[in-house]
Amino acid sequence: MAKKPTKNTSGRGQRDLTVKVKTARGRKLSSTNWLQRQLNDPYVKRAKAEGYRGRAAYKILELDDKYRFLVPGARIVDLGCAPGGWLQVAVKRANTLGERKSKAQGYVLGVDLQEVEPIAGAEIHQLDFLEDDADIKVREWLGGTADVVMSDMAASASGHKQTDHMRIMALCEAAAHFSFDVLTEGGTFVAKVLAGGAEGDLQKLLKQRFKKVANVKPPASRSDSSEKFVVATGFKGSDESD
Ligand SMILES: C[S@@+](CC[C@H](N)C(=O)[O-])C[C@H]1O[C@@H](n2cnc3c(N)ncnc32)[C@H](O)[C@@H]1O
Repeated sequence: MAKKPTKNTSGRGQRDLTVKVKTARGRKLSSTNWLQRQLNDPYVKRAKAEGYRGRAAYKILELDDKYRFLVPGARIVDLGCAPGGWLQVAVKRANTLGERKSKAQGYVLGVDLQEVEPIAGAEIHQLDFLEDDADIKVREWLGGTADVVMSDMAASASGHKQTDHMRIMALCEAAAHFSFDVLTEGGTFVAKVLAGGAEGDLQKLLKQRFKKVANVKPPASRSDSSEKFVVATGFKGSDESD
């Protein structure tokens, strides 16, 4: 159970606002630690205050502040979009509701294994992106090209570092190949990867197809997580072998 913020005993008269979580019977220490971190995370608090569905929203906000790919009028595909924080950001920045009248109106398509509560301005479908012909389905929904393909897809953690790494890389590679099929020239691909070895192959692949490929750890990504993001900009266009 969460305890109210406690007074600092340092004697300096400052209040320690850290929320302490008591270990409850039946709850594992790892869950207690997770809960405590969640309750004290400034991004979690900010997401609540600003109406985002999760702290993940700040990762794409920070990446976009740096690389500026979510522009008004952009056509964006968000793979692994549940619960919808990235979608909320994309809808606003791409102006998919046409709220900024003087700006072009974009389009946002999200897919996820899980059901997602509707978000005004985004088209959302439930789909396992690794199933056969998933890419064909997404292309049909998209009905044209995309300016941005972004993937925050991650399978549930197995607890085995190498297995988790290989799984996320498989999702990433599927997303990258999909991006080669749908991106317009100059388009952007953004994906979450885990440090662990195999991401070098993805880098090589992306470097052949994009002008610039960067590895970024946005401030909102927890420092104790091996997660990072690959941002590939300036898609060179589809080639014959796609
Ligand atoms: C970290 S969450 C994404 C958070 C999201 N960017 C947001 O801002 O709300 C990772 C998502 O990847 C999804 N996912 C994992 N494997 C997938 C697959 N094979 N196909 C589609 N979605 C998948 C999970 O269901 C999960 O919702």
